[in-house]
Amino acid sequence: MSKNSPPKKARRKVRRKSQPAIVTSPLVEARNSPIHGKGVYAVASIKKGTRIIEYLGERISHSEADDRYEVKGEDDGHTFLFIASNRTVIDAGVNGNDARFINHHCNPNCETVIENSRVFIDAIRNIKPGEELGYDYQLTWESTDDPEELALYACRCGAKKCRGTMLDREPLDKKKQTKNKKASGKRKR
Ligand SMILES: C[S@@+](CC[C@H](N)C(=O)[O-])C[C@H]1O[C@@H](n2cnc3c(N)ncnc32)[C@H](O)[C@@H]1O
Ligand SMILES: [Zn+2]
Repeated sequence: MSKNSPPKKARRKVRRKSQPAIVTSPLVEARNSPIHGKGVYAVASIKKGTRIIEYLGERISHSEADDRYEVKGEDDGHTFLFIASNRTVIDAGVNGNDARFINHHCNPNCETVIENSRVFIDAIRNIKPGEELGYDYQLTWESTDDPEELALYACRCGAKKCRGTMLDREPLDKKKQTKNKKASGKRKR
């Protein structure tokens, strides 16, 4: 052992306790939204930086997600899928909580944060009671996708600078960092 080596004990991997699931939140409720179906609304003031809720549902592989939803038929663009990692997709259509009702917004007050393949919704500004929560879905798509299919993801958030779509700005196949990632179908990430 060299002089500067730390004692063996200190080198042992520390097992961190994983944080408990945030299944519900006293800060929000789900109810009808003018944007689409149900939305999630603040029922109390929420401070910027607050971790509001976790996006929960069945954890499945990308190929399982493809099998489940690519044959949906009359696809209306509705999805409860969220990419948690290169391996895992969360299907909130199965055992999902209220986080699945948060609509897309082009001028969002929330963002999704992925930690250890878990997805959390955090406030990115102060939110007043009664405000609808929203984050940018950045739905994945490919430049080879059928434009008619892509049109199904039109945005109705009503923001002044609405970009007109819930899709990510760039197609997946054009993104350098996701070069090796194979993900088809529309999923939030
Ligand atoms: C995870 S769900 C959100 C909850 C949804 N409102 C519901 O009642 O099931 C996602 C779906 O809601 C719809 N949606 C969410 N945000 C939208 C928006 N800004 N414009 C149009 N449709 C939206 C789309 O059909 C999308 O696939
Ligand atoms: Zn919009």
